[in-house]
Amino acid sequence: MVISPAVYYALSDIYTKGSWIGEAIKHHLPGFMMEPMYFRLVHTVVERDYLTEYRISRLTDRPPKTSVKIILKIGMALLDVFNIPEYAVVNDVTEMTKVVGKRGVSGFVNAVLRRYAREGRELYPEDPVENLAARANRPRWQVDRYINELGMEEASRRLLTVKTEKAHIRPARSFGKEALKQALDEMKCIYEETEYGFYIGGDCKWHGLYIEGKATAMAWSSIDVCESVPYEGGMILDLCAAPGGKSIYFAEKYGAKVVSCDKYIHRVKLIKEYARTINAKGISTILLDARDLIPEWKGQFPVVFLDAPCSGFGSLATNQDVVLHRTKEDVEEIIKLQRELISVAAEYVAAGGVLVYATCSDLPSEDESIVRSLLENRNDFSLEKEKHTDPIKGGGESYYCAVMRKK
Ligand SMILES: C[S@@+](CC[C@H](N)C(=O)[O-])C[C@H]1O[C@@H](n2cnc3c(N)ncnc32)[C@H](O)[C@@H]1O
Repeated sequence: MVISPAVYYALSDIYTKGSWIGEAIKHHLPGFMMEPMYFRLVHTVVERDYLTEYRISRLTDRPPKTSVKIILKIGMALLDVFNIPEYAVVNDVTEMTKVVGKRGVSGFVNAVLRRYAREGRELYPEDPVENLAARANRPRWQVDRYINELGMEEASRRLLTVKTEKAHIRPARSFGKEALKQALDEMKCIYEETEYGFYIGGDCKWHGLYIEGKATAMAWSSIDVCESVPYEGGMILDLCAAPGGKSIYFAEKYGAKVVSCDKYIHRVKLIKEYARTINAKGISTILLDARDLIPEWKGQFPVVFLDAPCSGFGSLATNQDVVLHRTKEDVEEIIKLQRELISVAAEYVAAGGVLVYATCSDLPSEDESIVRSLLENRNDFSLEKEKHTDPIKGGGESYYCAVMRKK
């Protein structure tokens, strides 16, 4: 086996330029659909970053440069996750090191990987918090935050949820679940049925069904949040709607008129394209910074849905970037934004209507705390329902949603 240097270049962009994983893979491994192993390898390195950083620090006298660490992490992933024999990994990674112009460190890479294969694969930090960080692959500051907010036991439970690699797809309403199942059978896809759709393996080539408007990717947890919205008629205002997954779900399920807003024009376009592809009717899009109050909308909507921008900490199965690129300061800013958005959103709810607040985070400061602070300021709202979606059914992801009813 020869490891494509493109794996190294993609990871290099992720680690040194802050590129998103999807972006780096698209750029360096454009044929990734044909080479699922390289695609998985890039993801695996990122998913094990914190653990492998620790192990490298234990196996070397001085911290190697980032470029060398990337090469070592590729080798460690091949040994541990891809179960490739030691001699093949060491030889191939050493060769790759030369191909990417790092001949000078190839001997070092060779020696560290041999040492790793012999004595590094069971190394874990002794300190319980560091140990949790390594096993969960989360930076220390994120783990500290979970422990401060939830205590060690619940923090460990949430941080160590096993993530699935499978994607979840659902049928378009006009196509239906049975027809989708039949189509997957015809394509010989391996799938697992859920109450909303199907988890499918990485080699299922279902994309044509999306182009034909018959099916779409939508996380199980996302659908479960939509299903928690009590709909009794009238217009739905979706304030942070792009790329449009939930707006479209509401429009299809209830035949409701949905006003879908987003702050960014390119993201508003995504909603339009998505609705067109899946042939969803009844969605009108508006470019709006949802912190700006629109006086004419006050008290007008029986359902106001706020799927707030969030840390993404509850959606790591599909969004590992967050582990590497999200900072402490980002989270504080996001919380401030969530508070502003929810207080404006509350203004639009009609008497007797509902405000639904949702995030794809499992951090209480983005979830329960935001809702509690609104309820303290607005005694005309009461909490009707609140939940974290089931992480097992959600493939390791857990979203939050709260339904507040206005008197
Ligand atoms: C969690 S995503 C929404 C996902 C969407 N509900 C779906 O199911 O496809 C949050 C969205 O909020 C948008 N956003 C961020 N800040 C905003 C603001 N101040 N006003 C309106 N939208 C905002 C982002 O552009 C992003 O599209």
